[in-house]
Amino acid sequence: MKLAKFFCATLILIFATALSGCGDSSLSLDNSVRKSVAVCFPNLTPSWERNGEAMRKLLEEEGFTVDIQYSGKAEEQAEQVKNALAKKPGCLVLGALGTDEYYIDVLADAKKYNVPVIAFDRAILSSDAVSYYASFDNAAIGEGMGEYLETALNLKSGAGPYNIELFAGGQDDGNAHVFFNRTMEILEPYLRSGQLVCRSGQRTFEQVYVADWVSENARPRIKELLSKYYTDAPLNVVLSPNDDIAGVILSEISAAGKPAPVISGLDGDPAAYQRIREGTQTFTIAKDANVLTAKCVRMIKAVVEGTQPDINDVTTYKNGDRVIPAYLCTPQIVDKTNVDIVAK
Ligand code: BGC
Repeated sequence: MKLAKFFCATLILIFATALSGCGDSSLSLDNSVRKSVAVCFPNLTPSWERNGEAMRKLLEEEGFTVDIQYSGKAEEQAEQVKNALAKKPGCLVLGALGTDEYYIDVLADAKKYNVPVIAFDRAILSSDAVSYYASFDNAAIGEGMGEYLETALNLKSGAGPYNIELFAGGQDDGNAHVFFNRTMEILEPYLRSGQLVCRSGQRTFEQVYVADWVSENARPRIKELLSKYYTDAPLNVVLSPNDDIAGVILSEISAAGKPAPVISGLDGDPAAYQRIREGTQTFTIAKDANVLTAKCVRMIKAVVEGTQPDINDVTTYKNGDRVIPAYLCTPQIVDKTNVDIVAK
């Protein structure tokens, strides 16, 4: 009796396996699922729109279907990610809005549904669902900002004193901390020597971050700084963490009737290129969406089709005892000397 049951069960299994493997329709269904990519990005800055557009274009050229969702709030984005994963796409590309906590549960779904995840621009280090990280070299960005200011102000030769105020990116974004910390390693010695003077005394990340990277959140602070500390003194230098925020800071400085300071930026927004041409913004660090997206698409193809992605960092992004393989693109400094070449 037992033997007969076993025999029957084996037959059913063989039959089911044969059925599932045959027929073009099941294969093409499988392929269309594998060739679908869900993308969840922040909608904070023009740079994310550029990333989204570049991603759609390149993936469609490669025969993928793309579902892109944008959000400005981490809770909402976590919900978007959950919904995207429920459709079991071939891959999820995530430009995370909040801290890792928002994503631990949703990314557990990625494991459950067997959907590989690629972290885009911002690292996610808490989930073992993440296969790769595609970004720009964040430490190099912070360093580039610090070094540009150091050179432009001739600080190494002892120039100064210059009045400086500092702004940093959003509190929940790891990149914002890396940018700021790296820049400050370069600027701190000049604050200590008195070549740079921060009249407000606000010098820590906690004192100077722009909540959630929302540029309008910088407005009240720059207004207050100008009216409290700079009615009878020049504001010579501003560290701005990106172009969007530089735009707001510069508009308030101009509204206060003051000349534009030496001011940084990041992303390479068209508005920033315009300000560089007009001479109000000193420089930006451009992150070319096409460059980053091309690397990311290689990663998508690797997880979906089993090809080889470009990787150039296997040490920085640790998740427990695992390292997330990353490709970190090289950003480009743009100022009045090259703006017309870069932004044709
Ligand atoms: C990105 C910046 C961007 C900022 C606001 C950061 O994580 O690295 O390029 O300006 O987010 O969206």
